[in-house]
Amino acid sequence: MKICIIGASGKLGQYMVQHALDRGYEVVGVCRERSVGKLDAFKGRITIIPGDTNDRAVIQKAVAGCDGVLTVLVPWGNQHYSTGTAQAVLDYAQPGARLIFSCGWHITRDGKDVFPPALKRDEKIARWITRIVPFIDLDDQIEACRRIFASDTRWTVVRGSDLEEGASQGLPVWSRHVGDPILASNMTRRVDYALFMVAALENDALVHEAPAIVGCQTPSARAIQAKG
Ligand SMILES: NC(=O)c1ccc[n+]([C@@H]2O[C@H](COP(=O)([O-])OP(=O)(O)OC[C@H]3O[C@@H](n4cnc5c(N)ncnc54)[C@H](OP(=O)(O)O)[C@@H]3O)[C@@H](O)[C@H]2O)c1
Repeated sequence: MKICIIGASGKLGQYMVQHALDRGYEVVGVCRERSVGKLDAFKGRITIIPGDTNDRAVIQKAVAGCDGVLTVLVPWGNQHYSTGTAQAVLDYAQPGARLIFSCGWHITRDGKDVFPPALKRDEKIARWITRIVPFIDLDDQIEACRRIFASDTRWTVVRGSDLEEGASQGLPVWSRHVGDPILASNMTRRVDYALFMVAALENDALVHEAPAIVGCQTPSARAIQAKG
């Protein structure tokens, strides 16, 4: 299987590269030119296409011939970066390719999520600060996901909880709505978020789903699993 990882040089991206290589996939990675050095550990084992991930020509070249595309949607800047990236992937990925996107819990597909008060508070603060210093654009990730949800491609949008570093605990568990008891611990190891993204490439049950994930060893996940 040949796959493309868009945003390969970030923390999540690098973990995804490793998981993909572990599975024997051929990997094409896209990252900003200034970040190519962050992928030195994978030199000779992946193809790197440098460029901004919202550059449509870069994405067109990178996804050509790929059976799957893993895209890190980031809210950085005020140039509609996430929307540009997502739209280019939707437009240029080959028909039938599996498209997996990452975002945060704040994304909702059907409005039925019940967000923890702390997340609502943080979002309010971030919106207030970025009105003055526009270094992130939360609505851009929302618009990017609206377009993905409306597309007829074979998409999955993986919604991450708070993230932490640390050794893998295994494949995270998921639920359709933030607020479901299994998600209450609100924590996933970044390496396992990446594992979920990569595993989704070959899990057709996740097509047209927006799973909200949480670490499989967290108290809330273990409590639900113990109940059977
Ligand atoms: N952090 C969290 O707690 C959290 C929680 C839930 C979900 N998520 C989701 O998880 C994904 C990755 O999050 P992460 O925290 O692990 O970050 P990350 O993997 O380090 O990813 C950051 C990405 O953003 C890029 N980036 C940084 N500054 C940028 C800029 N000014 N313009 C354009 N791109 C820029 C980086 O590219 P370079 O390598 O070129 O710098 C990198 O690809 C995102 O989809 C995020 O929404 C994060």
